Amino acid sequence: MKQLITSILFVAAVLASCSSPEVSSPDGRLHLKLTVDEAGSIFYQVDVDGSPFIAPSRLGLVASNAELASGFVIEDIEHGAVDSVWHQPWGENKELTDRHNSMSVTMANGEGVQLTLSFKLFDDGLGFRYDYDVPGVDSLFVTDELTQFAIVGDGMSWSIPASFETYELEYREMPLSTVGDANTPMTFKTEGGLYASLHEAALTDYPEMTLRRDSTGVLKADLAPWPDGVKARYAGGHCLSPWRTVQVADEAVGLINSPLILNLNEPCALATTDWVRPMRYVGVWWGMHLGIETWQDDERHGATTANAKKYIDFAADNGIEGVVFEGWNRGWESWGGRQSFDFTAPYDDFDMGEVVRYAKERGVQVIGHHETGGNVPNYERQLDRAYAWCDSLGIRYVKTGYAGGMPGGQFHHGQYGVRHYRRVVETAARYHVSLDVHEPIKDTGIRRTWPNMMTREGARGMEWNAWSKGNSLEHELILPFTRLLAGPMDYTPGTFDILYEATRNDPRRRKWNDLDEGNSRVNTTLAKQIANWVILYSPLQMASDLVENYEGHPAFQFFRDFDADCDWSRALQGEPGDYIAVVRRAGDRYDLGASTNEEARTLTVPLDFLVGGVTYDAAIYADGDDADWQHNPTSYKIVHRTVTSADTLTVVMAEGGGQAVTFIPRK
Ligand code: NOJ
Ligand code: CA
Repeated sequence: MKQLITSILFVAAVLASCSSPEVSSPDGRLHLKLTVDEAGSIFYQVDVDGSPFIAPSRLGLVASNAELASGFVIEDIEHGAVDSVWHQPWGENKELTDRHNSMSVTMANGEGVQLTLSFKLFDDGLGFRYDYDVPGVDSLFVTDELTQFAIVGDGMSWSIPASFETYELEYREMPLSTVGDANTPMTFKTEGGLYASLHEAALTDYPEMTLRRDSTGVLKADLAPWPDGVKARYAGGHCLSPWRTVQVADEAVGLINSPLILNLNEPCALATTDWVRPMRYVGVWWGMHLGIETWQDDERHGATTANAKKYIDFAADNGIEGVVFEGWNRGWESWGGRQSFDFTAPYDDFDMGEVVRYAKERGVQVIGHHETGGNVPNYERQLDRAYAWCDSLGIRYVKTGYAGGMPGGQFHHGQYGVRHYRRVVETAARYHVSLDVHEPIKDTGIRRTWPNMMTREGARGMEWNAWSKGNSLEHELILPFTRLLAGPMDYTPGTFDILYEATRNDPRRRKWNDLDEGNSRVNTTLAKQIANWVILYSPLQMASDLVENYEGHPAFQFFRDFDADCDWSRALQGEPGDYIAVVRRAGDRYDLGASTNEEARTLTVPLDFLVGGVTYDAAIYADGDDADWQHNPTSYKIVHRTVTSADTLTVVMAEGGGQAVTFIPRK
């Protein structure tokens, strides 16, 4: 991968005499100070614009067989600065700037434990990580992380509760002071009006970090454990933690536009990336969630050769690049039980060879599907063979799933899970396969290092609308300011049959999920579904509905025209849970997506992101004049206009509505 680096690195070693090392962001607005108290315990504090933002907060890890928290004396301090531009093969922005000041503080304690604490301060936030070396031990057992985030004052926050098993939880908007525990990214707005988000970057060989209020009333790192209570274990005495991150912005959309998480990850580890390509897809999927088809091969089996060909034809006829088929392989009859899926054995009525041949003939990519049910040992036993098989069939994408508990009391988000998910990414990379992971470990920006780790679920997605009370009107307006700060999400937007009119009374329909009360629906207007294709960024972007609901539908033209591979993105305006407007450029065309919560809303959007002097044909997919999400969700209109960068668009949205616009330069 081509990397343009224009970095100036200056390193100044300062000796231990300085007991309060300090570092500022390049613009000087963020200032971090490190202190070591008389007991050799370590603390950091952060000011923003000269005012305290994070009060002195504890740093350090605890281990059962080494002293990692106290007794430290500073031995060396190094300062540096980087200003570089780098590129990624795909992403919201293909070109990114990494501009930060760094500080690396090396310490040792009486037991000879060496700790290097690294800090990077950017204009849009900061990151820090632990690098421990414990001499003379053959293993290290980390039992706690002491990192605190003592945010000064109160504010409003948006987060899901902490869980080591799932992120498919409802978001809470609540005063920061009342958050007892939370998963990250946790976003908040301080009383002073600063927006911030706590998360982590480069989670590689460590459990996930959640936040829990400690006995002193401060939010503290809380790590997912192994079944024996140990949080992280290593052969040898070395432990390198992920980065703990604090993003800050004056406007809520500043958090979305921040590349901080990616900047804190390692450069691309792949020798080639030409096989990693963003694309749109449809699939044999929604029918199962709606209860009219099944994953297993009974009389309602969805993934039959004939149905697969129907979806391949639809994709080919509409210029959509990919198709997924769930329920193609043996083992679904054991889902919820032994979870013994076979990843190279298709059901008798699914002829993989013929499906792959037909897809190739029609120019469509097949996305394989590996539901593991959480049975990691079963998957790992087959991993290499399964991906070699995909490679031999020319399958370049696989969707994975972990719907079910992991054996032996392991948590999805513990170090065991983190290691497993990474092993899959690395194995898939060896066979040039890109991933869409459901029930994943949360995104921490590893796509920079492993671009084949393309997208993942990791929040309540569209599926919840099929068989539960569904996602709230704010949900899709909180996601961009929380979950999506971590990275792309396979939300699978684009359900057009909002009220399931085509399938509700289908004689095949059976309740299969306990949460299904028979009154499920999508809680948006149709135009908001279209806007979500732009707003909820995923390099693999799905049109979720049954293809028959798109056949002949004029509004599906938006998806036909859509490019999942974008070059540049900007969140223009928005507030968590209320509204948002995002624009993305792919080549010389732009797509705008805007949406609102239960309130009808009109946004004024200057089109100054368009190229000056160029005339664009704008196709506007808007809520109908009489639309509202509750009573008239499918009312929409398509309006065509000619615009330039000097124009301003008035984006009128119904209650629970949205708007999507394509801007194509007039030739
Ligand atoms: C949960 C995933 O999120 C969903 O997309 C999939 O259909 C089911 N598991 C079955 O694998
Ligand atoms: Ca899921």
